[in-house]
Parts: sequence; structure tokens; C-alpha cells
Amino acid sequence: MADADGNKESVEFHTNIPQKTEGFFLKGSNSLEWGMKDRLARIFNPKSGRTVMLAFDHGYIMGPTSGLERMDLTIVPLIEHADCIMCTRGALRSLVPPTINKPVSLRYSAGTTVLTELNDECTMNIEEAVRLNASLLAVMVAVGDKFEGVTMRNLTHAVDMGTRYGIPTLGVTAIGKDMARDSRYLSMAARVCAENGAHVVKTYFCEGFDKVAASCPVPIVLAGGKKLPELDALTMAAKAMDQGACGVDMGRNVFQSENPVAMLKAIKSVVHENETPKKAFEMFETLKNEL
Ligand code: R5P
Repeated sequence: MADADGNKESVEFHTNIPQKTEGFFLKGSNSLEWGMKDRLARIFNPKSGRTVMLAFDHGYIMGPTSGLERMDLTIVPLIEHADCIMCTRGALRSLVPPTINKPVSLRYSAGTTVLTELNDECTMNIEEAVRLNASLLAVMVAVGDKFEGVTMRNLTHAVDMGTRYGIPTLGVTAIGKDMARDSRYLSMAARVCAENGAHVVKTYFCEGFDKVAASCPVPIVLAGGKKLPELDALTMAAKAMDQGACGVDMGRNVFQSENPVAMLKAIKSVVHENETPKKAFEMFETLKNEL
């Protein structure tokens, strides 16, 4: 207990300096609670307002994907170079060292695999996400798909539960089988996620991506998709940043690259420093021979 007697009297009130009331740097996030903002500020760099997430949750529907056969050997060494990791609780507990000190976007929904019908998913318990110190709850949302209702309920449930504990939700837009991956569809899917409470949305690049980003009231992170030549992937990332994305959440374009660390560093230069794709690719070429 502090001493009651002999304390120094307060004199430094700085009455001529008004206390600052600053807005939060992230789009659409100003009205969130402190814990949510703290977690988002661990994911998104407050200086650039952007993030480079490393996704390696593919095994939850695909099994041992190329590049993820031995995540202890291929993924763990990459983690220090990412701003945030996106993975399942299984990978987190069995392979990811608890000393990494990186925010975790936890795969919070799960269900059917590529062997059956995708997107028939459920969510885990919020206590499990709290126990694992998740910074973001990643939930698949299949707008326009047979499982739209199921996945929308999962999103709603995650937002409700995450809000109780101050953990934001990432709406991951799945593409329905009969849906074109165009700005009309993606802007609808992203907007539906945001309107139903997602704090961040992950979606694909398309022609007219600027309209997708502009009409989504919360930050969008770019999904990488299948492996592209490195220059093409860097060009896609740069275009998405120019057109309003707040970062990337990439997997295969990193861990299937001929040099994943070099690729991650090149992507970071595009995302955080607005490096041109050409310069970033030159960086990749140089680094791949050194690392
Ligand atoms: C998709 O739902 C998965 O959650 C992956 O995390 C996501 O597709 C990102 O990985 P990639 O860049 O390989 O598409």
C-alpha cells in the first residue's frame, strides 16, 4: 500500500496543453474497444497501416499441401520474417514455438475437406482461442454458395464471441463454385462480411479491385491464391496496395517459392515501403542467392 504521509505534492498539470484525442489508424476501426485495437495494432503496422500475414492453414482442408509437408522445417524458419501468422490450432500447438511473439490469426472455422464438399463448417470454442492468445479469428464465409447460411452463422457467432473477449474477426471470402472471381461478386462478398461484423476481410485480387476495397468499410487483406511466378505475385500485391488493400495474407506464393525468405522480404518491401514490383523482384533475385 502506498504511504499516506510525506508524498510529494502534484504540481505538473500542464494546464496549457490539452490532452490529445487521437483517431485509430485503421480504416473503420475507430469505435472498437481497447483490446480489439491493441490486437489489430499488433497485426497491422501502425506506421504503414499494413500487414504481411503468412498463411499456412491449408492443411485443414487439403492435408499435406506442397511446401507444408514438414512445417517444422519449411514454415517455422519463415515466421520471424512475417508480421502475423495464420494457422490452425493443431499447427500452433504441435509446431509453432510459443516464443515467436507474433500475433496469430487463428483458423477458427473448420469442416469439410477438398475430398467432399467445401464450406460446410462449424466454429471452435472461444475459450480455446483465448487460451491460444489469438489476435484474430479467421472464419470462412461462402457468399453465394450452398453453405452460405452455415458460414454466415459462423461469422456472426465468431463476431459475437470475439467481441466478448476483445478479439477481432477476419471474414475469409470463399468463392462459390458458380461465382466469377470479379469485382461485382468480390465487392458483394467483402461487403457482406463487413456488414455482418467482420473487422478485417480477406479476398482475392480482380480487375476493378479498387471498387472492392473502396466499398468495404474495414481493412482488406489480399489472399494470394495459387502459386504464380514471383514477379507476377509481387505485381499483384503492388496493384492491390495501390488500389486500397491494407496488406496481404499469402501462403503458397511464399512457401512454394524457390526461396521463401527472399520472397517474404520482397513482399514486405512492396507492402510496407511501396516498392515497385520490378525493384522488389530484383531484391528477391539478389536475396535468393544470399539466403
Ligand atoms: C484459405 O481459405 C486458406 O485459409 C489460406 O490461408 C488462404 O487461401 C491463403 O493462402 P494462399 O495464399 O495460398 O491462397
